[in-house]
Amino acid sequence: MYFLEDFNNFAFMRTQQSLIIIFIFSWILLAGCDEELTRTKWYPNPNGDSELALLMREMHDDVLLMKKSVEAKQVPRVRIDHTKIFTAIPTEQGKVESQEYKDNGKLYLQAIESIRKSNYKNARENYKNVVGSCISCHRSVCPGPVDKIENLLLEEEV
Ligand code: HEC
Repeated sequence: MYFLEDFNNFAFMRTQQSLIIIFIFSWILLAGCDEELTRTKWYPNPNGDSELALLMREMHDDVLLMKKSVEAKQVPRVRIDHTKIFTAIPTEQGKVESQEYKDNGKLYLQAIESIRKSNYKNARENYKNVVGSCISCHRSVCPGPVDKIENLLLEEEV
């Protein structure tokens, strides 16, 4: 009898142990997955993402929605405040203080204003100007994301 009880206890402990081991393993796997996600984000930077970098991603998403509208022959809408390119804090302060950034930034905001006011006839042209001005600024101050931006080009331009 004693022997049986001991054996039962032992078996119970074994199950508990395996459960704990399984738990720890899945936890490690899940945590690894999380890290994977943060690592595959666009252009991660070791100091965390700057305000300007986050704004740029929102701009990218906004313009992607405009692309969908243009492709569907609808008039695109501007959903976010693009003028923040002149106030958002960048990763490197020098980047936004340069004359190239200021000049390109002005042209970009003009392109955004034109697309805001566009109609069925000129939406497509105005859209191309927006993406063109993303690319010109990037060619002169921050060439890294150009590939990513090129996915905003319309089929006919690629
Ligand atoms: C006036 C110059 C300028 C214009 C216009 C501009 N960018 Fe940027 N962009 C920058 C700078 C500078 C950075 C680097 C920001 C930082 O690291 O703080 C950047 C960063 C980015 C990034 C990387 C963000 C990240 O995850 O680190 C993407 C993507 C991007 N821009 C897309 C766009 C798109 C799309 C447009 C047009 C809709 C655009 N940019 C217009 C200057 C510009």
